[in-house]
Amino acid sequence: MDMRLNPSILAADFANLERDLARISSADFAHVDIMDNHFVPNLTFGLGMVERLQQVSPIPLDVHLMIDDPDRWAPGYAEVGAASVTFHAEAATDAVALARRLRDMGARAGIALKPGTPVEPYLELLQEFDQVLVMTVEPGFGGQSFIAETLPKIELLRSAIRRSGHDIWLQVDGGINEETILAAAGAGADTFVAGSSVFGADHPADKIAALRAAAAS
Ligand code: DX5
Ligand code: ZN
Repeated sequence: MDMRLNPSILAADFANLERDLARISSADFAHVDIMDNHFVPNLTFGLGMVERLQQVSPIPLDVHLMIDDPDRWAPGYAEVGAASVTFHAEAATDAVALARRLRDMGARAGIALKPGTPVEPYLELLQEFDQVLVMTVEPGFGGQSFIAETLPKIELLRSAIRRSGHDIWLQVDGGINEETILAAAGAGADTFVAGSSVFGADHPADKIAALRAAAAS
């Protein structure tokens, strides 16, 4: 099975993002966490920043919107060229209509679920999305511990994706390191976001390689 490793620049040096993007050029996507201080109790950056990062990044951007009213704001991220735009199921008014709009604009459409959000209502709608993100920590901050109780949800999604016959990426985000990536991959995840484990390492490129190897083992 194909896998992807997407470092989260939430753990990068915000004063040196261009340099830090260059350090993760061996990764598949740069994961960009957009937080609005409303959907989550933290604030990061917005559209202008993503537009600029897009110009200097050696790899495509995987945008994760932790914001209220994604129906209104998400299309802007597709417009500036983000490869994928993932919004939260808990925040969207019409997730299917929004996903269709993002796809029409040429982005991969993703839907994200907080750890406590049940997956069942979305299992019949999977074909509307290119990727599903299972949060393995409460969204808002990097450096938290992986919540193992999310594993059954990943397993459920993996079987539903298999049944659907579509190549929908199954992403995990939060607390991913060389140990937890094994559990997530075992449950069926194929796309891994890692913030502090990659940027906290002396050599991010070596850590990316080590995480890939662990996921494949
Ligand atoms: C958390 C963010 C994550 C975060 C992961 O709300 O969505 O992408 O950067 O950071 P780590 O890997 O440190 O848990
Ligand atoms: Zn994220």
